[in-house]
Amino acid sequence: VKIYVPRDTAALALGANKVAAAIEKEAQARGLEVTIVRNGSHGMHWLEPLVEVVAGGERIAYGPVKASDVPSLFEAGFVTGGAHPLCHGPTKDIPFLKQQTRLTFARCGLTDPLSLDDYRALRGLAGLEKAVAMAPIDIVTEVTDSGLRGRGGAGFPTGIKWKTVLEAAGDRKYIVCNADEGDSGTFADRMIMEGDPFVLIEGMAIAGLATGATKGFIYTRSEYPHAIAIMSEAIEIARQVGVLGPSVLGSGRAFDMEVRVGAGAYVCGEETSLLNSLEGKRGVVRAKPPLPAHKGLFDCPTVINNVISLASVPVVLDQGAAFYRDFGMGRSRGTIPIQIAGNVKHGGLYETAFGLSLGEIVDQIAGGTASGRPVKAVQVGGPLGAYFPRALFDTPFDYEAFAAKDGLIGHAGIVVFDDTADMLHQARFAMEFCAIESCGKCTPCRIGSTRGVEVADKIARGIEPEKNRELLADLCNTMKFGSLCALGGFTPYPVMSAMTHFPEDFSPAPAVQA
Ligand code: NAI
Ligand code: SF4
Repeated sequence: VKIYVPRDTAALALGANKVAAAIEKEAQARGLEVTIVRNGSHGMHWLEPLVEVVAGGERIAYGPVKASDVPSLFEAGFVTGGAHPLCHGPTKDIPFLKQQTRLTFARCGLTDPLSLDDYRALRGLAGLEKAVAMAPIDIVTEVTDSGLRGRGGAGFPTGIKWKTVLEAAGDRKYIVCNADEGDSGTFADRMIMEGDPFVLIEGMAIAGLATGATKGFIYTRSEYPHAIAIMSEAIEIARQVGVLGPSVLGSGRAFDMEVRVGAGAYVCGEETSLLNSLEGKRGVVRAKPPLPAHKGLFDCPTVINNVISLASVPVVLDQGAAFYRDFGMGRSRGTIPIQIAGNVKHGGLYETAFGLSLGEIVDQIAGGTASGRPVKAVQVGGPLGAYFPRALFDTPFDYEAFAAKDGLIGHAGIVVFDDTADMLHQARFAMEFCAIESCGKCTPCRIGSTRGVEVADKIARGIEPEKNRELLADLCNTMKFGSLCALGGFTPYPVMSAMTHFPEDFSPAPAVQA
């Protein structure tokens, strides 16, 4: 009997290792032979640890399973798909999963992340096999035509970035994967690295072939120990079978890569700060230009892409640009893995074509709040993203549509708050976060964020609220237009959106005079 127990961090945090041990012990006691496969997560976090058994040729889901549930599962005959209160029927039919369009996450949760056979069986390496037979410019054109844009947040066209590096002069070029996933409520990068590491390796190898880069680095965070271990092991396996090395798949073109671990600073997710950190320097932002595409790692032309951008490339090469471009709306083509977190019933990863409305995501897919109270605000795009009220729930998930409403999609994380949230407190938090994480290079961010906390505190205490609200807006304006990078430049989004959409929270009772 084949039983799947995820090894993804979310499942581990919820006791997956104990569940796997309990299954093994119980099976032994009953004289049953079971094979436990440690797969990635399907991304239905409220069901983790989600245990699956193969019965009648299908995978049947049970969850969330605790180690103490295991005897009763065996009692109910779960090894043959028996009924049990924790049973959800065939995994593929669970609505949250069934309604998705999984292109980038096609294998995540289905396979043993370190089995190259599993990977190949589900079209793994098909994209790279095509790429090795193509001229670099043709690979770049395919990616450009697919409409793929940077999934780290800025949405810059991936193909154009690659073309810049391809055309840049340089003896050495690099592919750097930004896996420093720092946004609150985001976990897509981690899930791919833990659940389907070969897809990232394949995407990076394709990027190398397309641009003439021979070396890649995955820069990730020390807070991701499982992702680091799985990625490193997958790289070793890929090397052994010639997916990486002096002659990628026998093409005569070299590409190799390694994992590098940062020390945990949010700003090291900013690409130039990341490059400094990768070079062993302090993670301080560099001025642009020069763009990393011209002068990046060790001053060489460098592609820096987010994990999801790179992991979306294999399917583009395999199925063709037109296939990928067919999904989505406007200039947002393809699919986006939306990460649903915060006060929701159904949190997790939901990959879908661009274009769903925010309301559909929050009310239908996420099932509303876990607390059962009304949704007050949704922060989209991480700690630097805007808070959207229910009045803006018709906004489609699309780069331009969010920008038009003074928001951003960012890395596609959404965090939901119910009506107990205090938006002045959230605005203060944004300023405090910026003050803590600021690299200190420019004044509007370094000083502005600290002043922002003070001004928010004055408003909270009812001290000259009108004057201080104006001051806060003025400060946001200075930070937005005067900061060197997105940390200082985007902190005004949560602050201003909170003030604009929830003015009542910025008008506390007048101060009590001593
Ligand atoms: P940006 O707009 O300055 O640049 C986007 C990318 O395009 C960069 O890689 C840049 O080097 C490249 N680029 C720009 N013009 C180019 C050209 N002509 N040729 C080749 N490459 C070119 O944005 P930035 O500052 O890199 O990122 C800001 C975004 O980061 C925000 O939208 C925010 O959502 C996101 N973000 C993501 C986080 C995460 O954890 N994933 C955390 C914080 C912010
Ligand atoms: Fe550093 Fe903040 Fe300036 Fe960015 S905006 S360069 S984090 S001080």
